[in-house]
Amino acid sequence: MTDDRIALDPARIRELFDLRQLGGGFEEDPYPAWHRLRESGPLHEGTVGRLIGFDGPETFFGLPEPERPHFSAFDFETCDAIIRDSDVFMMSPSDPDDKLGLYQTSMLTMDGDRHHRYRALVQPSFYPERMPWWTKNWIQPTVEALIDSFESNGRADLNVEFCAAIPVLTICGSFGISVEDALDIRAAVSGVDQSPGSGRPGVGRFMEILRPIVEARRAQPQDDLISTLVQAELTEEGQSHVLSDTDILSFSFLLLGAGSGTTWKQMGIILVTMLERPEWIEAVRRDPSVLHALIEESARWMPTDPVFSRYVRKDVALHGIDIPAGAVVHQCYGAANRDPARWERPDEFDPRRAPRKNLAFGRGAHTCMGKNLALTELVTAITALVDRLPNLRLDPDAQSPRIIGLYERGPTAVPVVWG
Ligand code: HEM
Repeated sequence: MTDDRIALDPARIRELFDLRQLGGGFEEDPYPAWHRLRESGPLHEGTVGRLIGFDGPETFFGLPEPERPHFSAFDFETCDAIIRDSDVFMMSPSDPDDKLGLYQTSMLTMDGDRHHRYRALVQPSFYPERMPWWTKNWIQPTVEALIDSFESNGRADLNVEFCAAIPVLTICGSFGISVEDALDIRAAVSGVDQSPGSGRPGVGRFMEILRPIVEARRAQPQDDLISTLVQAELTEEGQSHVLSDTDILSFSFLLLGAGSGTTWKQMGIILVTMLERPEWIEAVRRDPSVLHALIEESARWMPTDPVFSRYVRKDVALHGIDIPAGAVVHQCYGAANRDPARWERPDEFDPRRAPRKNLAFGRGAHTCMGKNLALTELVTAITALVDRLPNLRLDPDAQSPRIIGLYERGPTAVPVVWG
């Protein structure tokens, strides 16, 4: 445990991890409208936001794309069928072009065999048996150092002081990125920074930080994820070769973005849900193993990223609606996860319900590669909080937290006191 792990500027974290700035100002509960839409048909023409009356800017996967027709699915069966049919519903509108930016050339936009080959290069680092490596090297030291930093204060906003910091420091640590540079990386991958001299905001700074690390690991690999990428060999058309710098930087951009954005918000959602139902804090204190069911249920009940999209590559008809090639179909995983055809009392948060596959982490070829890592971060972090902060509860003097955002959901704050 070192002090530099916690030397993050809280004002900058607040700015980078504030959904009021990122989410375009959506503050309503979308679930009643999603239920109404599902009841009137599983598939509708339009984007998820516009269909529920949101008229702010829509920026997420497959958005805004104003030139394309948009459709949205709201029931489990249709969402599930779309994401498993990767012949028709694909991650990008055309085959990836290597001249595009870092995000557009990443594995997330690939389909078919090419996607499979790239994913296989890093997937083993995210298998369950690799989790002790993550916990020992990055997660546990970060969690303990953060709690050390605020334990004696008796109060904290866990959203800024805890939830935001753990995923970004974990994934950056695994890339050999220093604590000082971690927030610049977060700004770059989330497009918040406006660094001059780059095609995309923040990408110039991202390159500046990553390139020397890639060079150093090519010369001398270490026991970290960036070394795995640098040493990975890709076999294409019978020929094996190491990844190019562009491939490594694209991979890094994707993993640093995916690894630093989602777990933060899901951790906040889980903590607020538990703090509003203190019997679950007590249950975890008595038996930390209940956390697994609690986390799975919270992700079903309120996934942080409730909508993902696919591009339609061939004309197709679904539920009697013609969808032309070139359209974007948005799968509302949030609505699918509360489909009454699959779950009884779907709006109730009930960790005791029998487990059933939900879509919070996706499904099919592009199912979340970091799910085990996210679960390990969540379990380690919440167990340590409950262990170390007696009588942990919502701060009665602070404004009650609200879960906000449409395409990215999370709490406004997680104000707590203890002792
Ligand atoms: C609670 C936290 C997380 C949630 C809820 C989440 C959710 C998701 C979902 C729903 C998808 C599928 C998207 C689609 O269907 O189009 C996805 C994909 C992905 N996630 Fe996560 N994720 C989380 C944490 C992480 C972490 C920690 C990483 C680590 C690097 C990660 C890496 C990825 C990657 C690389 C993909 C793309 C996989 C592919 O295209 O094959 N995620 N995630």
